[in-house]
Amino acid sequence: MARDQRRSVPPSDGEPGSRRDLHFTRPSIARVYDYVLGGREHFEIDRRAAHSFLNVAPEAAQVAKDSRAFMRRGVHYLVGEAGIRQIIDIGSGLPTTGNVHEIAHAIDPTVHVVYVDNDPMVLTHARAMLDGDDKATVIGADLRTPETIFDDPQTRKLIDMDRPFAVLTSGILHHVSDEDDPFGAAAEVRARLSPGSFLLVSHFLDEEPRAKDLERAFLHGVGSGRFRTWDENRRFFEGLEMVEPGLVYANTWRPDADTPVRNQVETLYVGGIGRKV
Ligand SMILES: C[S@@+](CC[C@H](N)C(=O)[O-])C[C@H]1O[C@@H](n2cnc3c(N)ncnc32)[C@H](O)[C@@H]1O
Repeated sequence: MARDQRRSVPPSDGEPGSRRDLHFTRPSIARVYDYVLGGREHFEIDRRAAHSFLNVAPEAAQVAKDSRAFMRRGVHYLVGEAGIRQIIDIGSGLPTTGNVHEIAHAIDPTVHVVYVDNDPMVLTHARAMLDGDDKATVIGADLRTPETIFDDPQTRKLIDMDRPFAVLTSGILHHVSDEDDPFGAAAEVRARLSPGSFLLVSHFLDEEPRAKDLERAFLHGVGSGRFRTWDENRRFFEGLEMVEPGLVYANTWRPDADTPVRNQVETLYVGGIGRKV
């Protein structure tokens, strides 16, 4: 894509991720996550928010690392095994090491990637990272209104929705509250998938006592972070055929040599990939 065809200015006020949304008086999920992952793009308010749940369970920091590792293995599967050449990564987060387009391009440099986030700081950093890249772009849009993602001209430009593509929702749906209907949003995403397309989900799991304690800490300190049951998590894939081994603890999804299959937090996080037939 030519440089002048990509969006080179921040979204206008009123669009998801616009500068008007840039706030430093509330924690940002993206910046809290960056802090927990050991990044540098966070403020005191974000660090305090992180410690609201790290005080409950310091080991919870590992969930963020396991989540990224699951996403990495998922992209390897999608591009390396399933032959996917177009990816929409919703809730992409602040750029870090091993971003989706880097993982995909290491396998095939022609893969198209559209990053989506509603955090203005993510958009600024992602635009800088992708400057000059004609295979990957970033848009400001919101998972709660999937049409803002799928009908965006930049998405349409890079993703041919008549052909198979993959949608990643890694570590985002648990930040969509029940009131904002994450199941409805996931259903709308699934409805947009063409046959042979995939949906990746990873999500906090409500299975053991720490989950409810952590959920309270997240909701109080960060403002979002629902731990959902196995059945609730299965609902995100309704009507899709699950890729083996199905929806499982994220660390047990096709582990590789770098995956800590047994660790202190594996029962707090699930992951899976479904395919539209
Ligand atoms: C925990 S981070 C996950 C980052 C990355 N996907 C990963 O797995 O490492 C969640 C990201 O989702 C974004 N986000 C949260 N709610 C969103 C929404 N409704 N629409 C778009 N992005 C959202 C946040 O700004 C943040 O960057």
